[in-house]
Amino acid sequence: MSRDTLIDLIYLFSATTFIVALKGLGSPKHARRGNMVAAFGMLVAVVATFFKYVDGHSLHHVWLILLAMFIGVIIAVPTARFVKMTAMPQLVAIFNGVGGGAAALVSITEFIHIKSSHPATYVILEVLLGVLIGTVSFAGSAIAFAKLQELMTGRPVTYPGQQLINGVVGLAAVVLIVTILVTASTSLLWILLALAFVLGVIFVLPIGGADVPVLISLLNAFTGLAVAASGFTLGSNLLIVAGTLVGASGILLTRLMSKAMGRSLSNVLFSAFGSVVTASGATTRDDGRSVRSGTAEDAAILLGFSSRVVIIPGYGLAVAQGQHVLRELADLLESKGIEVFYAIHPVAGRMPGHMNVLLAEANVPYEQLLEMDEANSELATADVALVVGANDTVNPAALDDPSSPIYGMPIIKADLAENVLFLKRSMRPGFAGIENDLLYNPKTTLVFGDAKDTLTKMVAAVKAN
Ligand code: TAP
Repeated sequence: MSRDTLIDLIYLFSATTFIVALKGLGSPKHARRGNMVAAFGMLVAVVATFFKYVDGHSLHHVWLILLAMFIGVIIAVPTARFVKMTAMPQLVAIFNGVGGGAAALVSITEFIHIKSSHPATYVILEVLLGVLIGTVSFAGSAIAFAKLQELMTGRPVTYPGQQLINGVVGLAAVVLIVTILVTASTSLLWILLALAFVLGVIFVLPIGGADVPVLISLLNAFTGLAVAASGFTLGSNLLIVAGTLVGASGILLTRLMSKAMGRSLSNVLFSAFGSVVTASGATTRDDGRSVRSGTAEDAAILLGFSSRVVIIPGYGLAVAQGQHVLRELADLLESKGIEVFYAIHPVAGRMPGHMNVLLAEANVPYEQLLEMDEANSELATADVALVVGANDTVNPAALDDPSSPIYGMPIIKADLAENVLFLKRSMRPGFAGIENDLLYNPKTTLVFGDAKDTLTKMVAAVKAN
């Protein structure tokens, strides 16, 4: 067997591990293993590449490649290790961006390399698409990172004629690609690069900070496509498979996230959502209804008298980092014979699977996690729905107010439970910026305060009772 055949077989093995890994990532139980499988497959592929012949020669500049890898490891390992869970979306954004940038750089070098040999038009087209998509992904991810890291405003940045300008820049990029296909001009390639950079920036500017996770998933798909384009350029089957898997799963995830938010992808990308806050923040409404608040001790007494408790976690739990003490409270209730389970909304938090990851950190047993539909069918028999830092994902306006921006989003029906305990710091709204009628429901008791502090007091009170 020739060395090239052996390396192709190793690449086939790696591609298979990526598919197996994706299957594992489909459930919280197997996600960690899925990640390890993909990492192993990637390691095998990287090592194999060092032994590959390119045009009859071994790899060039091995020491430079090793140095670049070393620098990458020095930066990436501590960053990934010590990032806070709430900062994960921006970490994914920046890692995704460098992936897109790398794919664009590969395409640029290939263009310069192959230009003089007058390759077929489709080969140049692959290269140019790699430059365009990779650079859009790089620039867009950089702005997404800046928004989430609060280096710039997280609100949508809008100006008159914005979508028209974006459309014109996009069209100019397409015209430029056609011109380069005809002229093979390197100077025009630099203009395409600049235009793609501008396009990436202006495409992301009008997207509100909290919609950015959906956008990142889409940019992730772009990076995958750019990598697949590089794969065609370099004749690497592995890159084609890996890039296509990233592209396809990114697009699927983007669709699933938009669907779970009850919005179309075009609404997420083009509506500048999140720019208007309509909630008043007052504890009394115009119609005279006011909220009822209680103490952590009142909440503990109510829980103590229950037989079924459903915990509904949301973004505020991640902000408060209250997952460990929440688990402690749940264990305590269970030790008193009270049945406890968690209702997980698909877009609770700020990134896909946010609540699963958060609760896994506190070793909450997977069997206690119920997905939205299953949880909703159980809620009617619950004595208490304990809402911890969730808001939009339990807002009944999504079901019964057609004028609401979240109308159509499926929710966890906390109000089906006999009582609702709402843990939050103030009357401020959640991500959608809108009032939540559930706060004024006669079943609801609000316990104001940081979720971790309140839960800690509740644990002490349950122990004392
Ligand atoms: P949100 O509706 O964003 O509400 C979070 C609540 O947590 C707020 O009302 C806030 O009220 C409270 N909070 C914040 N810090 C807290 C703390 N330290 N202690 C106690 N409470 C705290 O959360 P959700 O129900 O999880 O909904 C998620 C929203 O994000 C949805 O609208 C969803 O569409 C959107 N979104 C999700 C994703 C993904 S993929 N998960 C991506 C993009 C957008 P106070 O300030 O009064 O405390």
